[in-house]
Amino acid sequence: MDKLVIQGGRPLLGSIHVGGSKNTALPLMAAALLADGVTTIHNIPVLKDVATFSNVIRVTGATVTWDPDDDPNTPETITIDASNLHHYEAPYDLVKQMRASFYMLGALLGRGGKARVSLPGGCAWGPRPVDLHIKGMEALGAEVHEEGGYVIAQAPGGRLPGGRMRFEPVSVGATINVLLAAVTASGESVLENVASEPDVVVFGEMLQAMGAQIEGLGTDTLTVQGVEALRPVEFTNCPDRIELGTYMIAAALATPAGETLTITGARPEHLGPDFTERFRETGVPFRTDGSTVEVDGVDAIRPVSIETAPYPGFATDLQAQWTVMMTQADGPSTVRDTVYTDRFKHIPELRRLGADLRVEGDTVHVAGKNGRPLSGATVMSTDLRASVSLVLAGMVAEGETDVLRVYHLDRGYERLEGKLQRAGVDIEREQYDEAHAEGVAA
Ligand code: UD1
Repeated sequence: MDKLVIQGGRPLLGSIHVGGSKNTALPLMAAALLADGVTTIHNIPVLKDVATFSNVIRVTGATVTWDPDDDPNTPETITIDASNLHHYEAPYDLVKQMRASFYMLGALLGRGGKARVSLPGGCAWGPRPVDLHIKGMEALGAEVHEEGGYVIAQAPGGRLPGGRMRFEPVSVGATINVLLAAVTASGESVLENVASEPDVVVFGEMLQAMGAQIEGLGTDTLTVQGVEALRPVEFTNCPDRIELGTYMIAAALATPAGETLTITGARPEHLGPDFTERFRETGVPFRTDGSTVEVDGVDAIRPVSIETAPYPGFATDLQAQWTVMMTQADGPSTVRDTVYTDRFKHIPELRRLGADLRVEGDTVHVAGKNGRPLSGATVMSTDLRASVSLVLAGMVAEGETDVLRVYHLDRGYERLEGKLQRAGVDIEREQYDEAHAEGVAA
Protein backbone atom coordinates (compact mmCIF):
# COMPACT_ATOMS: atom_id res chain seq x y z
CA MET A 1 0.00 0.00 0.00
CA ASP A 2 1.13 3.63 -0.46
CA LYS A 3 1.87 6.16 2.25
CA LEU A 4 3.00 9.78 2.18
CA VAL A 5 6.06 10.68 4.21
CA ILE A 6 6.27 14.37 5.10
CA GLN A 7 9.11 16.24 6.79
CA GLY A 8 7.39 19.16 8.46
CA GLY A 9 8.38 22.80 8.59
CA ARG A 10 9.30 23.43 4.93
CA PRO A 11 7.96 26.68 3.41
CA LEU A 12 5.22 26.48 0.77
CA LEU A 13 6.24 28.86 -2.03
CA GLY A 14 5.83 29.52 -5.73
CA SER A 15 2.71 28.35 -7.51
CA ILE A 16 0.23 25.48 -7.51
CA HIS A 17 -2.23 24.67 -10.29
CA VAL A 18 -5.79 23.59 -9.50
CA GLY A 19 -7.12 20.64 -11.50
CA GLY A 20 -10.61 20.04 -12.84
CA SER A 21 -13.38 19.50 -10.30
CA LYS A 22 -13.91 15.87 -9.28
CA ASN A 23 -17.45 16.39 -8.03
CA THR A 24 -18.43 18.05 -11.31
CA ALA A 25 -16.53 15.69 -13.63
CA LEU A 26 -18.54 12.65 -12.51
CA PRO A 27 -21.99 14.13 -13.27
CA LEU A 28 -20.69 15.53 -16.58
CA MET A 29 -19.59 12.01 -17.53
CA ALA A 30 -23.02 10.68 -16.53
CA ALA A 31 -24.69 13.37 -18.67
CA ALA A 32 -22.74 12.16 -21.71
CA LEU A 33 -24.75 8.91 -21.55
CA LEU A 34 -27.95 10.81 -22.37
CA ALA A 35 -26.78 11.54 -25.92
CA ASP A 36 -26.53 9.06 -28.78
CA GLY A 37 -23.06 10.00 -30.04
CA VAL A 38 -19.58 11.12 -28.98
CA THR A 39 -19.30 13.66 -26.14
CA THR A 40 -15.97 15.34 -25.38
CA ILE A 41 -15.24 16.80 -21.93
CA HIS A 42 -12.10 18.84 -21.21
CA ASN A 43 -10.34 19.55 -17.89
CA ILE A 44 -10.99 16.15 -16.37
CA PRO A 45 -8.82 15.59 -13.26
CA VAL A 46 -6.43 12.62 -13.16
CA LEU A 47 -8.08 10.77 -10.30
CA LYS A 48 -8.97 7.25 -9.23
CA ASP A 49 -12.68 8.19 -9.08
CA VAL A 50 -12.66 9.18 -12.76
CA ALA A 51 -11.06 5.83 -13.66
CA THR A 52 -13.65 4.01 -11.53
CA PHE A 53 -16.57 5.87 -13.10
CA SER A 54 -15.14 5.21 -16.59
CA ASN A 55 -15.35 1.50 -15.79
CA VAL A 56 -18.92 1.90 -14.51
CA ILE A 57 -19.84 3.56 -17.83
CA ARG A 58 -18.09 0.89 -19.93
CA VAL A 59 -20.36 -1.80 -18.45
CA THR A 60 -23.26 -0.24 -20.40
CA GLY A 61 -21.53 -0.76 -23.74
CA ALA A 62 -20.51 2.91 -24.07
CA THR A 63 -16.86 3.57 -25.00
CA VAL A 64 -14.70 5.79 -22.78
CA THR A 65 -11.38 7.12 -24.04
CA TRP A 66 -9.18 8.69 -21.40
CA ASP A 67 -5.43 8.61 -21.62
CA PRO A 68 -3.94 11.08 -19.13
CA ASP A 69 -0.27 12.01 -19.52
CA ASP A 70 2.17 12.84 -16.72
CA ASP A 71 2.25 16.60 -17.22
CA PRO A 72 0.19 18.23 -14.44
CA ASN A 73 -0.22 21.40 -16.52
CA THR A 74 -2.02 19.79 -19.46
CA PRO A 75 -5.75 19.57 -18.89
CA GLU A 76 -6.99 16.09 -19.69
CA THR A 77 -9.83 15.32 -22.07
CA ILE A 78 -12.24 12.41 -21.93
CA THR A 79 -14.45 11.23 -24.78
CA ILE A 80 -17.53 9.14 -24.19
CA ASP A 81 -19.25 7.46 -27.11
CA ALA A 82 -22.67 6.39 -25.89
CA SER A 83 -23.98 5.23 -29.29
CA ASN A 84 -23.69 1.57 -28.33
CA LEU A 85 -25.23 1.85 -24.86
CA HIS A 86 -27.42 -1.23 -24.49
CA HIS A 87 -26.85 -2.69 -20.98
CA TYR A 88 -28.79 -0.72 -18.35
CA GLU A 89 -26.91 -1.85 -15.29
CA ALA A 90 -24.34 -0.66 -12.72
CA PRO A 91 -22.97 -3.69 -10.84
CA TYR A 92 -22.19 -3.91 -7.11
CA ASP A 93 -18.44 -4.55 -7.45
CA LEU A 94 -18.03 -1.13 -9.11
CA VAL A 95 -20.73 0.87 -7.29
CA LYS A 96 -19.36 -0.16 -3.89
CA GLN A 97 -16.06 1.52 -4.78
CA MET A 98 -17.65 4.93 -5.23
CA ARG A 99 -21.04 6.29 -4.18
CA ALA A 100 -21.28 8.65 -7.16
CA SER A 101 -21.74 5.57 -9.38
CA PHE A 102 -25.35 5.80 -8.23
CA TYR A 103 -25.71 8.61 -10.82
CA MET A 104 -26.20 5.72 -13.25
CA LEU A 105 -29.76 5.43 -11.94
CA GLY A 106 -30.76 8.82 -13.37
CA ALA A 107 -28.52 8.54 -16.44
CA LEU A 108 -29.90 5.16 -17.55
CA LEU A 109 -33.51 6.10 -16.77
CA GLY A 110 -33.01 9.32 -18.73
CA ARG A 111 -31.43 7.55 -21.69
CA GLY A 112 -33.62 4.49 -22.03
CA GLY A 113 -36.31 4.45 -19.34
CA LYS A 114 -34.84 1.58 -17.35
CA ALA A 115 -32.02 0.94 -14.86
CA ARG A 116 -30.68 -1.75 -12.54
CA VAL A 117 -28.20 -0.10 -10.20
CA SER A 118 -26.58 -1.55 -7.09
CA LEU A 119 -27.14 0.25 -3.80
CA PRO A 120 -23.85 1.89 -2.80
CA GLY A 121 -23.50 -0.40 0.23
CA GLY A 122 -21.71 0.41 3.47
CA CYS A 123 -23.22 3.61 4.67
CA ALA A 124 -26.01 3.64 2.07
CA TRP A 125 -28.92 3.72 4.50
CA GLY A 126 -26.92 5.02 7.43
CA PRO A 127 -25.50 8.52 7.57
CA ARG A 128 -25.31 8.82 3.75
CA PRO A 129 -28.61 7.43 2.47
CA VAL A 130 -29.96 7.45 -1.10
CA ASP A 131 -33.65 7.67 -0.17
CA LEU A 132 -34.07 11.06 -1.86
CA HIS A 133 -32.59 9.77 -5.12
CA ILE A 134 -35.17 6.97 -5.17
CA LYS A 135 -38.10 9.16 -4.09
CA GLY A 136 -37.13 11.60 -6.81
CA MET A 137 -37.29 8.93 -9.53
CA GLU A 138 -40.69 7.84 -8.21
CA ALA A 139 -41.87 11.45 -8.24
CA LEU A 140 -40.95 11.62 -11.94
CA GLY A 141 -43.15 8.57 -12.53
CA ALA A 142 -40.67 5.68 -12.34
CA GLU A 143 -41.71 2.31 -10.90
CA VAL A 144 -38.96 1.44 -8.45
CA HIS A 145 -38.30 -1.65 -6.34
CA GLU A 146 -35.33 -3.19 -4.57
CA GLU A 147 -34.14 -6.72 -5.17
CA GLY A 148 -30.96 -8.40 -3.97
CA GLY A 149 -29.21 -5.14 -3.14
CA TYR A 150 -30.16 -3.55 -6.45
CA VAL A 151 -32.54 -0.69 -7.23
CA ILE A 152 -34.58 -1.58 -10.29
CA ALA A 153 -36.37 1.29 -11.97
CA GLN A 154 -38.60 1.39 -15.01
CA ALA A 155 -40.45 4.14 -16.84
CA PRO A 156 -43.94 2.93 -17.75
CA GLY A 157 -44.12 2.96 -21.54
CA GLY A 158 -40.35 3.55 -21.78
CA ARG A 159 -40.36 7.29 -20.96
CA LEU A 160 -40.89 9.06 -17.65
CA PRO A 161 -43.81 11.50 -17.53
CA GLY A 162 -42.02 13.97 -15.18
CA GLY A 163 -43.36 15.28 -11.88
CA ARG A 164 -42.82 17.41 -8.79
CA MET A 165 -40.31 16.70 -6.03
CA ARG A 166 -39.21 18.59 -2.93
CA PHE A 167 -35.81 17.59 -1.55
CA GLU A 168 -35.45 17.58 2.23
CA PRO A 169 -32.60 18.03 3.15
CA VAL A 170 -30.84 19.73 0.24
CA SER A 171 -28.80 17.07 -1.56
CA VAL A 172 -26.17 17.60 -4.25
CA GLY A 173 -26.25 13.97 -5.40
CA ALA A 174 -30.03 13.59 -5.44
CA THR A 175 -30.48 16.88 -7.34
CA ILE A 176 -28.02 15.69 -10.01
CA ASN A 177 -29.50 12.20 -10.26
CA VAL A 178 -33.10 13.40 -10.58
CA LEU A 179 -32.10 16.04 -13.16
CA LEU A 180 -30.44 13.32 -15.29
CA ALA A 181 -33.79 11.52 -15.42
CA ALA A 182 -36.02 14.62 -15.75
CA VAL A 183 -34.41 16.24 -18.80
CA THR A 184 -35.74 13.61 -21.24
CA ALA A 185 -39.16 13.10 -19.60
CA SER A 186 -42.25 13.59 -21.74
CA GLY A 187 -43.57 16.40 -19.54
CA GLU A 188 -42.61 19.11 -17.07
CA SER A 189 -40.82 18.54 -13.76
CA VAL A 190 -40.52 20.98 -10.87
CA LEU A 191 -37.73 20.27 -8.40
CA GLU A 192 -37.85 22.25 -5.15
CA ASN A 193 -35.21 22.85 -2.49
CA VAL A 194 -32.48 21.70 -4.87
CA ALA A 195 -28.74 22.11 -4.34
CA SER A 196 -27.19 25.23 -5.86
CA GLU A 197 -23.55 24.12 -5.55
CA PRO A 198 -21.38 25.18 -8.54
CA ASP A 199 -21.09 21.45 -9.31
CA VAL A 200 -24.85 21.34 -9.94
CA VAL A 201 -24.89 24.61 -11.92
CA VAL A 202 -22.03 23.62 -14.25
CA PHE A 203 -23.59 20.19 -14.74
CA GLY A 204 -26.92 21.90 -15.58
CA GLU A 205 -25.10 24.14 -18.07
CA MET A 206 -23.75 21.08 -19.88
CA LEU A 207 -27.27 19.60 -20.01
CA GLN A 208 -28.52 22.90 -21.45
CA ALA A 209 -25.77 22.83 -24.09
CA MET A 210 -26.98 19.31 -24.96
CA GLY A 211 -30.46 20.71 -25.57
CA ALA A 212 -32.11 20.28 -22.16
CA GLN A 213 -34.73 22.87 -21.13
CA ILE A 214 -33.89 23.82 -17.52
CA GLU A 215 -34.81 27.05 -15.73
CA GLY A 216 -33.58 28.21 -12.33
CA LEU A 217 -29.99 26.90 -12.20
CA GLY A 218 -28.26 28.32 -9.12
CA THR A 219 -31.59 28.94 -7.34
CA ASP A 220 -33.50 26.54 -5.07
CA THR A 221 -36.15 25.59 -7.66
CA LEU A 222 -35.60 24.03 -11.07
CA THR A 223 -38.25 23.77 -13.76
CA VAL A 224 -37.50 21.24 -16.47
CA GLN A 225 -39.40 20.80 -19.73
CA GLY A 226 -38.51 17.32 -20.92
CA VAL A 227 -37.15 16.96 -24.46
CA GLU A 228 -37.22 13.90 -26.70
CA ALA A 229 -33.44 13.50 -26.96
CA LEU A 230 -30.19 15.29 -26.13
CA ARG A 231 -27.30 15.83 -28.50
CA PRO A 232 -23.60 15.14 -27.83
CA VAL A 233 -21.45 18.22 -27.11
CA GLU A 234 -17.92 19.41 -26.39
CA PHE A 235 -17.76 20.89 -22.88
CA THR A 236 -15.12 22.12 -20.41
CA ASN A 237 -15.28 21.08 -16.75
CA CYS A 238 -14.77 23.76 -14.06
CA PRO A 239 -11.76 23.90 -11.66
CA ASP A 240 -12.00 22.10 -8.32
CA ARG A 241 -13.14 24.57 -5.64
CA ILE A 242 -12.28 22.21 -2.78
CA GLU A 243 -8.73 21.83 -4.08
CA LEU A 244 -8.49 25.65 -4.25
CA GLY A 245 -9.76 26.06 -0.67
CA THR A 246 -7.33 23.38 0.49
CA TYR A 247 -4.33 25.19 -1.06
CA MET A 248 -5.45 28.52 0.41
CA ILE A 249 -5.45 26.87 3.84
CA ALA A 250 -2.08 25.24 3.06
CA ALA A 251 -0.65 28.71 2.32
CA ALA A 252 -2.04 30.12 5.58
CA LEU A 253 -0.29 27.28 7.39
CA ALA A 254 3.03 26.97 5.57
CA THR A 255 3.84 30.05 3.49
CA PRO A 256 6.23 32.25 5.51
CA ALA A 257 5.32 35.88 6.30
CA GLY A 258 6.57 38.14 3.51
CA GLU A 259 6.15 35.36 0.90
CA THR A 260 3.22 34.51 -1.38
CA LEU A 261 1.69 31.33 -2.77
CA THR A 262 0.12 31.76 -6.22
CA ILE A 263 -2.72 29.38 -7.03
CA THR A 264 -3.54 29.21 -10.75
CA GLY A 265 -6.29 27.66 -12.88
CA ALA A 266 -8.93 28.39 -10.23
CA ARG A 267 -12.46 29.74 -10.20
CA PRO A 268 -12.48 31.66 -6.89
CA GLU A 269 -16.18 32.62 -7.04
CA HIS A 270 -17.02 28.90 -6.68
CA LEU A 271 -15.70 28.94 -3.09
CA GLY A 272 -18.87 30.75 -2.02
CA PRO A 273 -19.13 33.89 0.11
CA ASP A 274 -19.08 32.11 3.48
CA PHE A 275 -15.66 30.48 3.01
CA THR A 276 -14.21 33.65 1.50
CA GLU A 277 -15.45 35.87 4.35
CA ARG A 278 -14.35 33.47 7.11
CA PHE A 279 -10.93 33.14 5.46
CA ARG A 280 -10.58 36.93 5.36
CA GLU A 281 -11.43 37.09 9.08
CA THR A 282 -8.39 34.89 9.85
CA GLY A 283 -6.23 37.85 8.82
CA VAL A 284 -4.52 35.91 6.02
CA PRO A 285 -4.40 38.32 3.05
CA PHE A 286 -5.42 37.01 -0.36
CA ARG A 287 -6.19 38.54 -3.74
CA THR A 288 -8.05 37.12 -6.67
CA ASP A 289 -7.48 38.10 -10.28
CA GLY A 290 -9.45 36.10 -12.81
CA SER A 291 -8.35 32.49 -12.39
CA THR A 292 -5.46 33.27 -10.01
CA VAL A 293 -5.51 33.51 -6.22
CA GLU A 294 -2.50 34.88 -4.33
CA VAL A 295 -2.24 34.11 -0.62
CA ASP A 296 0.32 35.92 1.55
CA GLY A 297 2.01 34.13 4.42
CA VAL A 298 1.40 35.46 7.94
CA ASP A 299 2.98 35.22 11.38
CA ALA A 300 -0.33 34.79 13.15
CA ILE A 301 -3.71 33.30 12.20
CA ARG A 302 -6.76 34.70 13.98
CA PRO A 303 -9.19 32.07 15.33
CA VAL A 304 -12.44 31.95 13.31
CA SER A 305 -15.30 29.56 14.03
CA ILE A 306 -17.21 28.05 11.10
CA GLU A 307 -20.41 26.12 10.50
CA THR A 308 -20.93 24.09 7.33
CA ALA A 309 -24.08 24.42 5.24
CA PRO A 310 -25.22 23.71 1.69
CA TYR A 311 -23.93 26.24 -0.89
CA PRO A 312 -23.51 29.22 -0.64
CA GLY A 313 -22.60 28.14 2.91
CA PHE A 314 -19.23 26.84 4.05
CA ALA A 315 -18.49 23.51 2.27
CA THR A 316 -18.41 20.43 4.48
CA ASP A 317 -15.57 19.21 2.23
CA LEU A 318 -13.36 21.99 3.70
CA GLN A 319 -14.10 21.60 7.41
CA ALA A 320 -11.34 19.06 8.18
CA GLN A 321 -8.74 21.33 6.53
CA TRP A 322 -10.13 24.36 8.42
CA THR A 323 -9.76 22.45 11.68
CA VAL A 324 -6.03 22.01 10.97
CA MET A 325 -5.67 25.72 10.23
CA MET A 326 -7.40 26.51 13.53
CA THR A 327 -4.93 24.31 15.46
CA GLN A 328 -2.36 26.95 14.42
CA ALA A 329 -4.53 29.97 15.30
CA ASP A 330 -3.89 32.31 18.22
CA GLY A 331 -6.86 31.17 20.28
CA PRO A 332 -9.79 28.77 20.48
CA SER A 333 -12.48 28.25 17.84
CA THR A 334 -15.19 25.78 16.87
CA VAL A 335 -15.89 23.84 13.68
CA ARG A 336 -19.50 22.67 13.35
CA ASP A 337 -20.70 20.36 10.57
CA THR A 338 -24.46 20.60 10.02
CA VAL A 339 -24.36 18.65 6.71
CA TYR A 340 -22.58 15.50 7.95
CA THR A 341 -22.90 15.81 11.70
CA ASP A 342 -20.38 13.08 12.55
CA ARG A 343 -17.74 13.64 9.89
CA PHE A 344 -14.88 13.70 12.39
CA LYS A 345 -12.78 10.58 11.76
CA HIS A 346 -9.72 12.76 11.28
CA ILE A 347 -9.92 14.10 14.83
CA PRO A 348 -8.31 11.11 16.65
CA GLU A 349 -5.55 11.11 14.01
CA LEU A 350 -4.90 14.85 14.42
CA ARG A 351 -4.72 14.26 18.17
CA ARG A 352 -1.90 11.78 17.52
CA LEU A 353 0.00 14.74 16.07
CA GLY A 354 -0.58 16.66 19.29
CA ALA A 355 -3.59 18.78 18.32
CA ASP A 356 -5.82 19.78 21.23
CA LEU A 357 -9.29 18.90 19.87
CA ARG A 358 -12.54 17.85 21.51
CA VAL A 359 -15.68 16.64 19.74
CA GLU A 360 -19.05 17.45 21.26
CA GLY A 361 -22.02 16.38 19.09
CA ASP A 362 -21.65 17.99 15.67
CA THR A 363 -18.94 20.41 16.85
CA VAL A 364 -15.16 20.25 17.23
CA HIS A 365 -13.64 22.53 19.85
CA VAL A 366 -10.17 23.57 18.71
CA ALA A 367 -7.86 24.87 21.42
CA GLY A 368 -5.57 26.76 19.03
CA LYS A 369 -1.81 26.95 19.04
CA ASN A 370 -1.10 27.94 22.65
CA GLY A 371 2.62 27.75 21.94
CA ARG A 372 2.42 23.98 21.45
CA PRO A 373 3.62 22.86 18.01
CA LEU A 374 2.27 19.72 16.36
CA SER A 375 4.77 16.89 16.24
CA GLY A 376 5.15 14.20 13.58
CA ALA A 377 3.61 10.74 14.00
CA THR A 378 2.15 7.89 11.97
CA VAL A 379 -1.49 8.58 11.14
CA MET A 380 -4.09 6.90 9.01
CA SER A 381 -6.35 8.27 6.26
CA THR A 382 -9.99 7.43 6.78
CA ASP A 383 -11.63 9.31 3.95
CA LEU A 384 -10.79 11.77 1.23
CA ARG A 385 -10.96 15.14 2.99
CA ALA A 386 -9.72 13.69 6.28
CA SER A 387 -6.58 12.49 4.46
CA VAL A 388 -5.67 15.88 3.09
CA SER A 389 -6.14 17.41 6.54
CA LEU A 390 -3.48 14.99 7.82
CA VAL A 391 -1.11 16.06 5.03
CA LEU A 392 -1.66 19.72 5.96
CA ALA A 393 -0.99 18.92 9.61
CA GLY A 394 2.16 16.99 8.61
CA MET A 395 3.40 20.07 6.74
CA VAL A 396 3.45 22.10 9.97
CA ALA A 397 4.32 19.33 12.45
CA GLU A 398 7.87 19.04 13.74
CA GLY A 399 9.70 16.01 12.35
CA GLU A 400 8.28 13.22 10.18
CA THR A 401 4.62 12.41 9.61
CA ASP A 402 3.63 9.21 7.80
CA VAL A 403 0.13 9.30 6.36
CA LEU A 404 -1.00 5.72 5.70
CA ARG A 405 -3.72 4.47 3.34
CA VAL A 406 -3.39 7.35 0.88
CA TYR A 407 -5.66 5.56 -1.59
CA HIS A 408 -8.41 7.70 -0.04
CA LEU A 409 -6.51 10.81 -1.09
CA ASP A 410 -5.86 9.49 -4.60
CA ARG A 411 -9.62 9.36 -5.13
CA GLY A 412 -9.89 13.12 -5.06
CA TYR A 413 -6.61 15.09 -5.08
CA GLU A 414 -4.88 15.25 -8.44
CA ARG A 415 -1.13 14.52 -8.19
CA LEU A 416 -1.05 16.07 -4.73
CA GLU A 417 2.49 15.17 -3.69
CA GLY A 418 3.96 16.33 -7.02
CA LYS A 419 2.22 19.70 -6.74
CA LEU A 420 3.32 20.17 -3.11
CA GLN A 421 6.90 19.04 -3.86
CA ARG A 422 7.26 21.64 -6.61
CA ALA A 423 6.06 24.28 -4.12
CA GLY A 424 8.77 23.32 -1.63
CA VAL A 425 7.14 20.69 0.59
CA ASP A 426 9.27 17.69 1.57
CA ILE A 427 6.76 14.95 0.75
CA GLU A 428 7.42 11.51 -0.76
CA ARG A 429 5.23 8.57 -1.69
CA GLU A 430 6.50 5.26 -0.38
CA GLN A 431 5.18 1.73 -0.27
CA TYR A 432 4.57 -0.07 2.99
CA ASP A 433 3.30 -3.37 4.25
CA GLU A 434 -0.03 -2.73 5.98
CA ALA A 435 0.29 -5.87 8.12
CA HIS A 436 3.43 -4.52 9.83
CA ALA A 437 2.66 -0.80 9.88
CA GLU A 438 2.73 1.13 13.11
CA GLY A 439 -0.58 2.77 13.98
CA VAL A 440 -2.82 0.42 11.97
CA ALA A 441 -5.34 -1.52 14.00
CA ALA A 442 -5.89 -5.09 12.84
C1 UD1 B 1 -21.67 15.44 -2.39
C2 UD1 B 1 -20.19 15.45 -2.61
C3 UD1 B 1 -19.46 15.39 -1.26
C4 UD1 B 1 -19.95 16.50 -0.35
C5 UD1 B 1 -21.47 16.50 -0.24
C6 UD1 B 1 -22.03 17.69 0.53
C7 UD1 B 1 -19.94 14.32 -4.73
C8 UD1 B 1 -19.45 13.12 -5.49
N1 UD1 B 1 -19.83 14.30 -3.40
O1 UD1 B 1 -22.01 14.22 -1.76
O2 UD1 B 1 -18.06 15.55 -1.53
O3 UD1 B 1 -19.41 16.31 0.95
O4 UD1 B 1 -22.05 16.55 -1.56
O5 UD1 B 1 -21.63 18.88 -0.05
O6 UD1 B 1 -20.36 15.29 -5.32
N2 UD1 B 1 -29.15 12.90 2.18
C9 UD1 B 1 -30.32 12.22 2.53
N3 UD1 B 1 -30.88 11.39 1.60
C10 UD1 B 1 -30.35 11.21 0.34
C11 UD1 B 1 -29.19 11.92 0.00
C12 UD1 B 1 -28.60 12.76 0.94
O7 UD1 B 1 -30.81 12.34 3.63
O8 UD1 B 1 -30.92 10.44 -0.44
C13 UD1 B 1 -28.52 13.82 3.17
C14 UD1 B 1 -27.11 13.35 3.57
O9 UD1 B 1 -27.14 12.40 4.61
C15 UD1 B 1 -26.49 14.67 4.00
C16 UD1 B 1 -27.16 15.69 3.10
O10 UD1 B 1 -28.30 15.06 2.54
O11 UD1 B 1 -26.82 14.96 5.34
C17 UD1 B 1 -26.29 16.21 1.98
O12 UD1 B 1 -25.73 15.12 1.26
P1 UD1 B 1 -25.52 15.18 -0.32
O13 UD1 B 1 -25.53 16.60 -0.76
O14 UD1 B 1 -26.48 14.25 -0.98
O15 UD1 B 1 -24.08 14.59 -0.49
P2 UD1 B 1 -23.52 13.76 -1.72
O16 UD1 B 1 -24.19 14.20 -2.97
O17 UD1 B 1 -23.51 12.31 -1.39
